[in-house]
Parts: sequence; structure tokens; C-alpha cells
Amino acid sequence: MKKLFGLIGCPVHHSMSPLMHNDAFKQIGVAAYYHAFHVEKEHLQDAVQGMKALGIAGFNVTIPHKTTIIPLLDDIDETALQIGAVNTVVNENGRLIGYNTDGEGFVRALCEELNIELTGKHILLIGAGGAARGIYFSLASRKAACIDLCNRTVDKAKELINERKIPVLSRAYSLDEAQQLLGNYDIIINTTSVGMYPNVEEMPLSLTNLKKGTIVSDIIYNPLETMLLKEAKRCGAITQNGVGMFVYQGALAFEKWTGIFPDTNRMKQIVIEQLGGKRHVNR
Ligand code: ATR
Repeated sequence: MKKLFGLIGCPVHHSMSPLMHNDAFKQIGVAAYYHAFHVEKEHLQDAVQGMKALGIAGFNVTIPHKTTIIPLLDDIDETALQIGAVNTVVNENGRLIGYNTDGEGFVRALCEELNIELTGKHILLIGAGGAARGIYFSLASRKAACIDLCNRTVDKAKELINERKIPVLSRAYSLDEAQQLLGNYDIIINTTSVGMYPNVEEMPLSLTNLKKGTIVSDIIYNPLETMLLKEAKRCGAITQNGVGMFVYQGALAFEKWTGIFPDTNRMKQIVIEQLGGKRHVNR
């Protein structure tokens, strides 16, 4: 009998996870099937109980359930608790255990795709929402020289910094302040949704002060090249889109379910084909 895996969220009809995971199961020869389930907020509790009752082997969690699922699970991994969000659940002998692979997925994609280390780097995160939290906590364990945050609502950036448990130099800035300081950073990461389809002409901040050779990474993958990345490229930056993060968070979830780390290059090809574009890592 096939093992069943899935995704819960709303909406999920455009998700690329089923295609990516079903292909990966086939590649490693495991009889399993991954299905995307549309679950409205008010049905989350029933859905989680249903997953358990049906013996579903594992599932991903996406918007809007990443935080609200926490009290419904049997146990939460330490990192996911710190981040305050779960994107991966493993059914361990009938107990549902929550993990977060988003932040680690981003950091793995950043380091492996661009072949860099984060030790001693000066990093700026744009945004202080759910996505920023995971990335911030994962970056913090990599010995960066500083990880500064800028956000439209500066207080949210300050809150995030004050909650942290890992000692790393971090300052909170407004978007205007950060624009003036862009030349100080080696790596700039957009974690906001600004520039995502259909608002493809928008940018979270101006890159006037960006220095040549800076790495600019955007977690958005639709479009494959946001206005921020286009501008950054024009300024001589090294750019990276969000396909890598999407693939690596999925690959790390897959590893938790099967014990096998899948072929991320193959996963990337599937995602990029689905998005109708070319792989985008510009050096
Ligand atoms: P996610 O879980 O995807 O990170 P979120 O928690 O709602 O979503 O966070 C969205 C982030 O994008 C926040 O940093 C938000 O800024 P605020 O904290 O000020 O709301 C940022 N954001 C969203 N729309 C924005 C816009 N038009 N301009 C600047 N920042 C924006």
C-alpha cells in the first residue's frame, strides 16, 4: 500500500509541491503519494485530527496555518518553537511532530547555490514577518558578523531582534534608513512579498546605494526575476531568486519523512519548468 503525504493550506491549487515530491518519491523508489489539501482556517483542527486518524505519514503546512497548527500537534522541534512556525509534520508512530525547514532551506540554498560561507558576513534582512523569522534564526547560527533587519514597521523588526537567543549583532532600521546603509552589506535578503506576482513593478526599497558585488537574494520565485533582482543585477550585484529556498525546504522535509535527501537539481528543474522559466542564479 502506498504511504500518503500531503500539504495543507489555503489556497493550494497552484502549489508545485505535489509535482516535486511525487517525482522525488519515484526517483528513490518509494511507493508514496503526495496530495495538496485545501483546508480553510476553521477546519484546521478537524483536518489535523483527520490526518492522524488516517495515518498520513507526513505533511507540509503552508499559509495561513503555519503558526496556528502548533497547539494542535503532539510535539514541536526546538527550532520550530523558536521560530514560532511549522511547515513540516512527521507522523512518528501515531504522534504528529512539527518542524520548520523554511529558514534552513533558505540558508542551504544561499550557501550551496552561490558557493559561499556566512562567517564574518554583514547581512541585511528586509522584512520582519513569518518568512523573516525562520531565515533570521537559521542565519544566526552561521557566525555572521551582523544580521540587521529593516522593515516598514520598525517595531516588528525590534521585537524580532529582542526575542532572539543566539548572540549576534543585530540592529533594526526603517526602510529609509536601510536604503542609506546598503553599501555596508555583503548580503541583502528580501523576505517580504513586495514584487510578487501580480505586483511585479514594486520594490521593497531603492538600491541607489548598493555596491557592486553584493549578493541580493529574493525569496520570491514568481516572477523568477523580481524588479529588485533586475535592479540589483543592473548595479553589478550577484542575484538569486526564491526557487532554491522553495526546493530546499521541500528537500529537507522529504529527508525528514524518508531519511533520504533528494536530488535538488532535479527538483529545481521541475519547479522552473512549472513556472515557465529558466534557472536564475546570476554571478
Ligand atoms: P510572511 O509570513 O510571508 O513573511 P507576513 O508575516 O505578513 O508574511 O510579513 C510580511 C512582511 O512583508 C512584513 O515584513 C511586512 O511589513 P510590515 O511588518 O510593516 O507589515 C512586509 N510588507 C508587506 N507589504 C509591504 C509593503 N507594501 N511595503 C513594505 N513592506 C511590506
